[in-house]
Amino acid sequence: MSSEGKSGAEKVAPATGKLGVMVVGLGAVATTMIAGVEAVRRGLAKPIGSLTQMGTIRLGKRTDNKSPLIRDFVPLADLKDVVFTGWDIFEDNVYESAAHAKVLEKETLEQLRPYLESIKPMPAVFDQYYVKRLHGTHVKKGKNKRELADQVRQDIRNFSKTVDRVVMIWCGSTEIFLEPTAVHQSIAAFEKGLEANDPGIAPSQIYAWAALSEGVPFANGAPNLTVDLPCMIELSKKNAAPICGKDFKTGQTFMKTVLAPAFKARLLGVSGWYSTNILGNRDGEVLDDPESFKTKEESKLGSLEYIFQPELYPDLYKDIYHKVRINYYPPRGDNKEGWDNIDIFGWLGYPMQIKVDFLCRDSILAAPIALDLVLFLDLAKRTPELRSRGIQEWLSFYLKSPQTAEGLYPEHDLFIQSMKLKNTLRHIMGADLITHLGLEYYD
Ligand SMILES: NC(=O)c1ccc[n+]([C@@H]2O[C@H](COP(=O)([O-])OP(=O)(O)OC[C@H]3O[C@@H](n4cnc5c(N)ncnc54)[C@H](O)[C@@H]3O)[C@@H](O)[C@H]2O)c1
Repeated sequence: MSSEGKSGAEKVAPATGKLGVMVVGLGAVATTMIAGVEAVRRGLAKPIGSLTQMGTIRLGKRTDNKSPLIRDFVPLADLKDVVFTGWDIFEDNVYESAAHAKVLEKETLEQLRPYLESIKPMPAVFDQYYVKRLHGTHVKKGKNKRELADQVRQDIRNFSKTVDRVVMIWCGSTEIFLEPTAVHQSIAAFEKGLEANDPGIAPSQIYAWAALSEGVPFANGAPNLTVDLPCMIELSKKNAAPICGKDFKTGQTFMKTVLAPAFKARLLGVSGWYSTNILGNRDGEVLDDPESFKTKEESKLGSLEYIFQPELYPDLYKDIYHKVRINYYPPRGDNKEGWDNIDIFGWLGYPMQIKVDFLCRDSILAAPIALDLVLFLDLAKRTPELRSRGIQEWLSFYLKSPQTAEGLYPEHDLFIQSMKLKNTLRHIMGADLITHLGLEYYD
C-alpha cells in the first residue's frame, strides 16, 4: 500500500510541509503536549499513549502478518513538521506555564527551555462571566464579539503565512454550563449574535467560529458547548473544516468505557456507580466553581447511560444510581486520584462490588490524546471523503462526549470506538475492513 493510498478514486493528499497547531489555552495539558513533542523530536523520550506515533494497524488476514505502524500506513504529519502557537489569558510563555503546572520534571523542562520559552501566547478572547475562577489580563479588546472573532481570524491568517496547514485545539479551561439557544441555530443567526454580543456565545465558540470560517479543523478538549451546535456543524461542512466531539477521555471516564461494556457483554447488572476525584491543579480549581463543574458533570455522566442501554436491559440497568464528584485538593497538583465504587449483581441477583482506585496523572494521559486529535483532524482535512462531512465520528475514541449526526446515539464503548477509528483508516486508504468474523481460517 502506498503511503498516499486511495479512497475510491480520490487520494488522501500527502502531508507535505509544516503543520501549524494553534492551541487555545497554554496550561497543563497544552504545555505537556508541546514539551512532550519536542522531547520526542530530540530523542529524549518515547510518545507513550499516542496511537498516531506508536499504534499499529492490522491489514488483511491474521495469517498475513501485516501490521504496519499507523503513521506508515496513513499520511500523517511528521512530528518534525509540527509548529505550535497559541493563546492564553496570562502572558507566561510555554516554559513558565509548564513550570507552573508542575507536570513535567524541572530537569526535562530545563533541557527544552529555549524552545519552550520561544512560544509566547497571543492575547486571548476571554470573559470572566464564562470562567468564574480566572482573572485574565492578557486579553483582546473589541467593541463586540464580532470584532474579537475577527481578531482571532487575523491571528490565524498571520500564522498561516508561516506554515502549510493549520489545526486548532481548545485546551482552555472549562466554561460554565450553557445550552443551545436561537443564536446557535444557523450561521446567519450566530453572526448576528456576534454583532449583538449575545450572552449565549462563549469565548470558546468565538475561537471555533474563527477557525471554521478560515477552513481550519477544530478539536475541543474541554466539555464546554463549542462546536456541538447546528451553526458550527453547518460552517464545518461549508468550509471543509472537520470537527469532532469534546472533552478528552483520560482517567475515570476512560476506565468506565472499558469496564461498563465488559459488564454488559456478560449481562452483569449494575445498581450503583459512585465516582469521586481529588485534583489539585488549575483545572481542579476551575471545576470547583459549580457552574464549570456542571459542564464537566454532564459530560462525565453521559457515557454509562448510552453503554448500558437500560431500555433494552431494564432488569440489569434500569435503576443505576450514578454519581460523579470532583473535589479540589491542592496538595495533589496534577496527580489526580479517581475512585470508583461499582455495585454489580450476578446470577439470581446476588450483589458484588468492584473498587477502582486510579492514581493517575491528568495531563500525562491527556497530552497524547491532544496530539492524536490534531494529527488525525489534519488527516481528515486532507481526505476528500472526510473533509466536508463535518463531524468526524471516528474520533469518538478520544472523547468523553462524542459528537454524532442528529438523532444518532453516541458510541462510548472504547473497543468499538477503536475498531471504528481503525476501519476508517483502512477505508480511506482503500484497504479491506476487518470484521473479526474469521470464518476464512476454517475453510
Ligand atoms: N487533563 C485531563 O485529563 C483532561 C481531561 C479532559 C478534559 N480536560 C480539559 O482540558 C482543559 C485544559 O486542562 P488543563 O489541566 O490544561 O487546565 P489548565 O487550567 O492548566 O489550563 C487551561 C488554560 O487555559 C487558559 N484559558 C482559559 N480560558 C481561556 C481563553 N478563553 N482563551 C485562552 N486561554 C484560556 C487558562 O489561562 C489556562 O492557562 C480543561 O478544560 C480540562 O477540563 C483535561
